[in-house]
Amino acid sequence: MLSRISRLGVQAASRARLGQNPATSRNQKEAIGSCINYVGNHTLCSATDATASDRSEQQEAKISVTFVDKDGDEKLINVPIGMSMLEAAHENDIELEGACEGSLACSTCHVIVTDVDYYNKLEDPEDEENDMLDLAFGLTETSRLGCQVIASPELDGIRLALPAATRNFAVDGHVPKPH
Ligand code: FES
Repeated sequence: MLSRISRLGVQAASRARLGQNPATSRNQKEAIGSCINYVGNHTLCSATDATASDRSEQQEAKISVTFVDKDGDEKLINVPIGMSMLEAAHENDIELEGACEGSLACSTCHVIVTDVDYYNKLEDPEDEENDMLDLAFGLTETSRLGCQVIASPELDGIRLALPAATRNFAVDGHVPKPH
C-alpha cells in the first residue's frame, strides 16, 4: 500500500514536472503537490487534503452582524455563513425569542433591518413569513423574521434592530405591552 502511494506520488511529480497534462485543474494540482510532499518528507498524504481544507475554510467563513437592542445598545457578533440570525442571536445571548424555533408559526423573532440597502439584498419573504410579519408589533418596511434571514457573504456588516415588543400569539397567547 505504502509503496503504491509512493509510486503514485512519483508519477504525479513527473507529470507535474513535464507538464504533460495542461488541463490539470487547480485542485488536482494541489493534490499533486501534497503527494510530492509525501515523497519528499515520508509523511502520509491524501489526494483530498487540499479540497478538504478548502471546504473547512468555507465552513468557517463568517460575517459581521450588529444587533441593536430595544435600549439602543449594540452588540457586534460574527455569524457563520449559512446560520440564521435567530440561531446566531441565541448563541450570543441576544434577546431574540424565536418561540416556534423557526417554523414560521410566530413573530417573536421579528427583526428590523436598519439599512434598506441590506434589506434589498435579502431573498424576498415567503407568503408564510409575510403572514406572520403582519401580526408583529412595530412592523416596518424593512422588517423580517430573524429565523428566515440566513447569513451570506453579501450581508456582511448588516445591522438588525430588535423591536420594543413581540407578540407570542401562537405559543401561549401572551400579548406583552410595548415598552
Ligand atoms: Fe417563529 Fe421565526 S421563530 S417565526
